[in-house]
Amino acid sequence: MENKSLFDLTGKIALITGGAGLLASEHAQALLEFGATIILADIREEKCKHAVKILNKKYEKVFPVFLDVTKKESWESVLENIQNTFGQIDILINNAGFTNQSKTSGFDASFENFSLEDWNAILQVNLTGTFLGCQVIGKHMVEHKKGAIINMASLYGVVSPHHPLYEGTGIVQPVAYSVSKHGVIGLTKYIATLWAKKGVRVNSITPGGIFNGHEGLFLERFEKLNPIGRMSDQAELRGAVVFLASDASSHVIGHNLIVDGGWTAW
Ligand SMILES: NC(=O)c1ccc[n+]([C@@H]2O[C@H](COP(=O)([O-])OP(=O)(O)OC[C@H]3O[C@@H](n4cnc5c(N)ncnc54)[C@H](O)[C@@H]3O)[C@@H](O)[C@H]2O)c1
Repeated sequence: MENKSLFDLTGKIALITGGAGLLASEHAQALLEFGATIILADIREEKCKHAVKILNKKYEKVFPVFLDVTKKESWESVLENIQNTFGQIDILINNAGFTNQSKTSGFDASFENFSLEDWNAILQVNLTGTFLGCQVIGKHMVEHKKGAIINMASLYGVVSPHHPLYEGTGIVQPVAYSVSKHGVIGLTKYIATLWAKKGVRVNSITPGGIFNGHEGLFLERFEKLNPIGRMSDQAELRGAVVFLASDASSHVIGHNLIVDGGWTAW
């Protein structure tokens, strides 16, 4: 096999959740350029369709679908739809999440005042949603004896949020976010080892802080704290996504690929 073809994704069908958010279009572009067809899934249907429209100006191989990651029936219906249209799913990126961009109503509350409703809502989407995706789509992949699953974790699934960074900035990283992402990394290892001999590879990617118009005190502090001296560009996860989705990572199982500019290294 030629080295370049290790990354080839021609004919592969990839389902990416959280399709209406900041990073899904980046993951999509990375896979599209190596030949994959993309289904972008989100609970925010109109925004997801808009993201698809923008990508299709260049690629014409992107399709939107409604998905509520917290509902097993919703995953089953998406699987059935994709099977009817494309036959199979080869790549799943569990990327949906409640984040600083798509907050729950009490996302910014302090730990002492953090409500059970927000705790449950964040765990439901970030962790249970990932569990359900792995279960429903992963089972389908196991039946086909082939597939790659990438779960989006976070630097705060590896280490605790740096609390002083956030003081006085208006930005918060709540306990449920960090705990849910620690769970995503654990879930990834559990399924990865379970399915290692079955042709289905499960890994996670840990992004660092992605620049999205941040400014002022937060940006200044973040840049000082991160070994690379800056936040991540939105496009800097693309290499990791293609690597873990393709045969280039055929012996990589249960790995958490950290792309954080060194944040978790010191
Ligand atoms: N942006 C960052 O700095 C950063 C850093 C580390 C990790 N991550 C992780 O990367 C992933 C993508 O991040 P992002 O910045 O694009 O987030 P985002 O908030 O922009 O997008 C998340 C998407 O998930 C969707 N979603 C929420 N609940 C859903 C549900 N029940 N069913 C289906 N979709 C649902 C939202 O509608 C939204 O479109 C997330 O898992 C996030 O935790 C992001």
